[in-house]
Amino acid sequence: MKVLVTGGLGFIGSHTVVALQEKGYDVVIIDNLSNSVISVLDGITRITGIRPEFEAIDLRDKPVVIDFFDRHKDIGGIIHFAASKAVNESVHKPLLYYENNIGTLVYLLQQMQEKGIENFIFSSSCTVYGEPDSLPITESAPVKPAFSPYGNTKQIGEEIIRDTSKAYPEFKSIALRYFNPIGAHPSGHIGELPLGVPQNLVPFVTQTAAGIREVLSVFGDDYPTPDGTAIRDYIHVVDLAESHVVALERLFDNKQKSNFEIFNIGTGRGSSVMEIIKTFEKVNGVKLNYKIVGRREGDVTAVWADTSLAEKELGWKARLTMEDALRDAWHWQQKISAKKNV
Ligand code: WQD
Repeated sequence: MKVLVTGGLGFIGSHTVVALQEKGYDVVIIDNLSNSVISVLDGITRITGIRPEFEAIDLRDKPVVIDFFDRHKDIGGIIHFAASKAVNESVHKPLLYYENNIGTLVYLLQQMQEKGIENFIFSSSCTVYGEPDSLPITESAPVKPAFSPYGNTKQIGEEIIRDTSKAYPEFKSIALRYFNPIGAHPSGHIGELPLGVPQNLVPFVTQTAAGIREVLSVFGDDYPTPDGTAIRDYIHVVDLAESHVVALERLFDNKQKSNFEIFNIGTGRGSSVMEIIKTFEKVNGVKLNYKIVGRREGDVTAVWADTSLAEKELGWKARLTMEDALRDAWHWQQKISAKKNV
């Protein structure tokens, strides 16, 4: 039996492939390399000693997706990461996001029905909550009108899966609503590889510290928070990866309470932008060049998870700290910067 990981060469996908292999699962990766590079396969192999099967496939190409499932008859579960995820880009290119994030999900689910594959883990996001009414956020918090087409594709994706699970009782799925994934594998063999100018905070921090970016812009220090900067729930990508294996095994072992469940995957702690900056400087002994600028459109003030449901039902809890994540992120940045300078 194999596990298919779509988007398995991406940031969270590659760390999840490592976690799956470490638990003894055979993995096959589909990735269209639109936001990743083939050398991630080498990084995974260096960590686990096992080179995953890989096929460069674009899930928008329906005949190719069908052919893939015709050839791979031993897939017992799917973890679906493949999607476009740049919030800002989605505002300017909504149709690319609806085609790539929704169309491909439908093709995958159709193949699962036709081929009798029953276990599905969906990569969702805390972005579905928008600006929360209360904190910490529980899974029963209202899903707000999305701030971006990207966020809307995650909301729509969950609804498509919910309807599918109602229509097909044998179909079992779990949506994991990630908070803010950061860090890298402690080995330094895989990590975040933002192509172009990083949109997210921590890769911009590490690239500034590495001298690739001149200065980090802090988007606003006039929020109603203790230090004026926005607050997020930053979770180590290794913890996040492990939550996918735990969720998939819940489905394999038929332990789910219903055939569509949703879990917040965060640390349960909120940290501000300034806390990230100061902690990064402290754990890595570097000085970060930053400046305060205006707020970024679409940003919420504060969001962090209530993770008690995942703890109770999945028996999962984040165990790594923000310090671990910022140390691992810097270790990874130094390794890729060194390679680039060769
Ligand atoms: C974090 C904080 C910024 C960059 C997004 C998506 C979410 C998920 C994670 C996919 C905010 C501030 C950032 C910078 C800054 N992605 N910041 N300077 O926006 O919370 O979440 O990425 O699933 O869905 O919405 O993450 O890292 O972009 O920002 O001050 O150069 O850092 O304003 O307060 P975000 P982020």
